[in-house]
Amino acid sequence: MVPSGGRGNGSGRIGTVGVVGLGTMGAGIVEVFAKAGLSVVGVDGTPELAERGKGFLTTSTGKAVARGRLSEQDQKALLDRVTWTASVTDLADVDLVIEAIPERLEFKIDLFSKLDDIVRPDTILASNTSSLSLTTIAAATKHPERVIGMHFFNPAPVLALVEVISTLFTDTKLVREVRDLATRLGKKPVVVGDRAGFVANALLITYLARAIRLYETGSVSREDLDNAMRVGAGFPMGPLTLSDLIGLDVVKEVCDVLYEATKDPSAAPPALLQQMVTAGRLGRKTGQGFYDYG
Ligand code: CAA
Repeated sequence: MVPSGGRGNGSGRIGTVGVVGLGTMGAGIVEVFAKAGLSVVGVDGTPELAERGKGFLTTSTGKAVARGRLSEQDQKALLDRVTWTASVTDLADVDLVIEAIPERLEFKIDLFSKLDDIVRPDTILASNTSSLSLTTIAAATKHPERVIGMHFFNPAPVLALVEVISTLFTDTKLVREVRDLATRLGKKPVVVGDRAGFVANALLITYLARAIRLYETGSVSREDLDNAMRVGAGFPMGPLTLSDLIGLDVVKEVCDVLYEATKDPSAAPPALLQQMVTAGRLGRKTGQGFYDYG
């Protein structure tokens, strides 16, 4: 049974949120909303994937308990605010849906047009896409004015940035409402237009691609390359470690989108990155990327 949300004005009207796609980002986004006291419906394609999402949340909040950042009682209350399902029809009465499924435009278009028929007319439809055209996704729906980007950064429970992405269709009141919601979640929203990679990924992913190309030359070890940027430039992680954290498949997908849109050669996916993705070495999530995660 999915709890129903209250209606009103402003971000306070958002009481129940659906998160579709419970991989690294989706599970992290569930945690952010549940931690802020909202009811969440976590959806993935099969009961096993929904169960895996529940496992991610239990592990992540368990670490917070172990570190003394969350009491066991608060962990239980947080977990109780989330229901898990393999059926998008369980989103019929949520106030906001955030999509965090794989970065394939056709999958997203398909999901948004299904959601259009399932949710209430005033439900906000948000995408966590890293770089795909939100305008194209919105245009495939019956109510493009309620479609918006809400782009979280990995790890979502820790990083404060949320890019709020508006298109030519997006209702300006909705932009304000989603920005206020991000603030209510303890995040720092920035409002950006719909262009490839928005702001953060347009700059960051090009930097990561350049770092991988430098590593390909064999002129520097992975550790020294990472240390150069971590110790010398003040980044919290070196670019190869960060690529492993983001997921090399995601880095490649964003490179593809940026290169397609800009033809900027520095955004083109490096050969090594392409090979690693083909080999299934996707970084932390598969246990092997530029580094090994035993
Ligand atoms: N989930 C939840 N909490 C996590 C976490 C995770 N996956 N990873 C780390 N944390 C928490 C830790 O529990 C710890 O909390 P406390 O201090 O309260 O105990 C805190 O974060 C710091 O963690 P650590 O001490 O283990 O390590 P750290 O100080 O090196 O921080 C980091 C880890 C937050 C990941 C930091 O290294 C960092 O900010 N790295 C850069 C990450 C980044 O740039 N991400 C953006 C990627 S781009 C993107 O996501 C967009 C896209 O579309 C591709």
